[in-house]
Amino acid sequence: MKKFILDLTVKSVEQLHERYVLIKLTDKHPLPEMLPGQFVEVQIEGSSTTFLRRPISINFVDREQNELWLLVATIGDGTRRLAQLKAGETLNCILPLGNGFSPIFKGEKVLLIGGGVGVAPLLYMGAKMKESGVEPTFLLGARSAKDLLMLDIFRRYGRVYVTTEDGSEGEKGFVTNHSLLQQECFDRISTCGPTPMMKAVARFARENGIDCEVSLENLMACGLGACLCCVEKTTEGNLCVCKDGPVFNIKKLLWQD
Ligand code: FES
Repeated sequence: MKKFILDLTVKSVEQLHERYVLIKLTDKHPLPEMLPGQFVEVQIEGSSTTFLRRPISINFVDREQNELWLLVATIGDGTRRLAQLKAGETLNCILPLGNGFSPIFKGEKVLLIGGGVGVAPLLYMGAKMKESGVEPTFLLGARSAKDLLMLDIFRRYGRVYVTTEDGSEGEKGFVTNHSLLQQECFDRISTCGPTPMMKAVARFARENGIDCEVSLENLMACGLGACLCCVEKTTEGNLCVCKDGPVFNIKKLLWQD
């Protein structure tokens, strides 16, 4: 897919949680085509410690409003600077990068499992699925009710099930403990979140013969396959998560635990 370097205009920055902001960006031209699971490399201006771009997954693309949404966890200097952006400022972005989730076929029953900020790409994935006539089921996990993000928006596109570690909303425990997994059969699982969660989901999928794709969050720098800092060992040798992923079928990964 053709990549673009664009100065996008900040439309709004919404504080969703003490550690997460939702940044909505727009452009005077229609935004380029983007696939669920792809990501954007954003330039951080005004941070004395951040020289490299930051990879942020595509949370949603609103074609009617010509908006690109980025859900950002504010965990370092660079991302905290992003959270301070004001409407009208510009953000230089390279997009769309990486390979997204595989296309879904009509009649497939698909479960989208997310944890923490890893829920971000699943919103766009679910919206695109619904657009193509396949209703997704979301299973979203967090530590506590206050850490569950954008639930109302997820509910616009499919059924939403929730787990929290402290039991403050939904079922208590981890996503892989949810009763839904015992009650319903799925053809495919797509997942994104903390690595231990994705490994547990991959194990469940493997044991139950379910096709499964994971979106890896290895550290990235260039985002373009040049620096090799994001390499993942696979059945095809070392692959760059930024260029060959971030989405991989679990059959390709050397995850045995
Ligand atoms: Fe540089 Fe992947 S981030 S090669």
